[in-house]
Amino acid sequence: MCGIVGYTGARQASEVILDALEHLEYRGYDSSGIAIHEADGIHVEKARGRLQVLRERTDNGAKLPGNVGIGHTRWATHGEPSDRNAHPHASAGSRVVIVHNGIIENYLPLQEFLAAQGYTFHSQTDSEVVANLIDYHYHGDPVEAVRAALVQIKGSYALGVLFTDHPDLIVAARKNSPLVIGLGEGENYIASDIPAFLKYTRRIVRLRELDVAVVRANGLEIYDPFGNPVPYTEEHVEWDVSAAEKGGYEHFMLKEIYEQPRAIRDTISPRVVEGKIELGLQSLDEARIRSLKQIYITACGSSYHVGMVGRVFMERLLHIPVRVELASEFRYENPLVDADTLVLVISQSGETADTLAALREAKRLGAYTIGIVNVVGSAIATEADEVLYTWAGPEIAVATTKAYNTQLSVLYLMTMSLARMLGRMEDTTYAEYLQQLAQLPDLCEKLLQDTSHIQYLASLCFAKDDIFFIGRNLDYALALEGSLKLKEISYIHSESYAAGELKHGTISLIQPGSLVIALCTQKRLLERMISDIRTVKARGAMVIALAEENTPFIQDVADHVITLPAHADFVAPSLSVIPLQLFAYYVAALKGCDIDKPRNLAKSVTVE
Ligand code: F6R
Repeated sequence: MCGIVGYTGARQASEVILDALEHLEYRGYDSSGIAIHEADGIHVEKARGRLQVLRERTDNGAKLPGNVGIGHTRWATHGEPSDRNAHPHASAGSRVVIVHNGIIENYLPLQEFLAAQGYTFHSQTDSEVVANLIDYHYHGDPVEAVRAALVQIKGSYALGVLFTDHPDLIVAARKNSPLVIGLGEGENYIASDIPAFLKYTRRIVRLRELDVAVVRANGLEIYDPFGNPVPYTEEHVEWDVSAAEKGGYEHFMLKEIYEQPRAIRDTISPRVVEGKIELGLQSLDEARIRSLKQIYITACGSSYHVGMVGRVFMERLLHIPVRVELASEFRYENPLVDADTLVLVISQSGETADTLAALREAKRLGAYTIGIVNVVGSAIATEADEVLYTWAGPEIAVATTKAYNTQLSVLYLMTMSLARMLGRMEDTTYAEYLQQLAQLPDLCEKLLQDTSHIQYLASLCFAKDDIFFIGRNLDYALALEGSLKLKEISYIHSESYAAGELKHGTISLIQPGSLVIALCTQKRLLERMISDIRTVKARGAMVIALAEENTPFIQDVADHVITLPAHADFVAPSLSVIPLQLFAYYVAALKGCDIDKPRNLAKSVTVE
């Protein structure tokens, strides 16, 4: 999400920067901007919309003839997409101009602190505080100012900083957000990703977390967080541009699967402040929660599957009836929705026509609505009474992966927060759940470390014509998602069944050689699932089971087992979806399918 670039050298910086930003377009953006050192100070141009708008405003860069500058493509997080919220942001007084990628978690207290020192703010972004904070610490030494500001910042950042007093340099820094430096002859670059400058140089330096770099046309200095100069290693890039845009992954889908730990962390951590969940929902107070008689969740496709998991979790913790409806069915059902109903609308794109129509119908019926949305400023985000954003970043592959998992994270947080307000969650359970949520990204990382077994299983299965997924309760929701992921990208016919339904008809489809993926992530249902596995095995099926490591008996009954690292029960859906995403991915890759753009499907379904 967001792209930052910087250039210093003999060429016209604006031309290089506009070109470099175009190579970062794949990251997704809704506005862009550029800042260039000119003879009379730093000039900033910004524009909502495509880069073409910025090109027109700057006459393809000709209006900004200087040689040192920074640029940005913004994917809105804090504040709607607009000229005002676009980067670069200047400090009050314009001594410091920055571009930022990431999320400043503590921007509100920092803003308060800076306002008390007389600083003013002009945007709704978290990033603007960085410009003012650096300015606050600036007493002539750019590195010291940036270092001092970073000590106060909580969150993630990749930064490019210009100082009016130092027209020959760019200061760069990063933490949990990518930033690379490109080394040319008499010119140097910074960027969020290598393809931005790959056309100009293949010599790169990877900036370490928390280090601060000073980039000049003829030199690079790097300092550690204590201000000591540190040596750096130069690398040579061998990739071509198209591979690099996917960060070295063959497909966006695989890249996005691997981004899940980061996406979950970004979604959860800014909302947990000193051991307490803070959702920032102004209108969801205790009185409203206590008046709720029911909750409806409505969504399409994978987002609907998230809703199915959410239902189980919410009913368990809140003791309020929860219904999950496909958005495409919702308004034809005459839903029993009124002012005492909370309607949760889940959508990655925020533009899905059926989901938007369901939201409008819910509002017409007087319900209180909350959108769980990934794309900031999208229709659902704007029209719902409140919105909870999932900080997954732009999702480019048609098949959703990281957005799915961040939607789940938001539902966990929201449920726990409501349970707490209703007095239905003990302090100790609340603290325990929060701890387990904090560990979730690490567990996902562990799971992603070795995927060789899943690749092997995909090689055994990619020639199958039919694949069945079975599971009970939460694992039934998971079965639906695993099956959808597989069929949409591999074109293999797949069915998902609540395992208890087998004996009511489905079992007639099972014959020698049928492949059944049995989801056994819930300990309390293990015995039942083992008996379901035996039932299909007795009809000749080959069974791949998915279960936590050391689950008893499972290795004896299934032909193959995909194991999950030990985890708390309630985070099982977030973890267990990952092997299913990988399985679908590897099967589709072996079949040579167009994974990121499967036939007949669109990322954003804006027709009903
Ligand atoms: C499946 C998938 C779709 C979407 C569905 C809803 O991998 O991506 O099923 O989940 O089209 O889209 P959003 O969440 O954008 O409303």
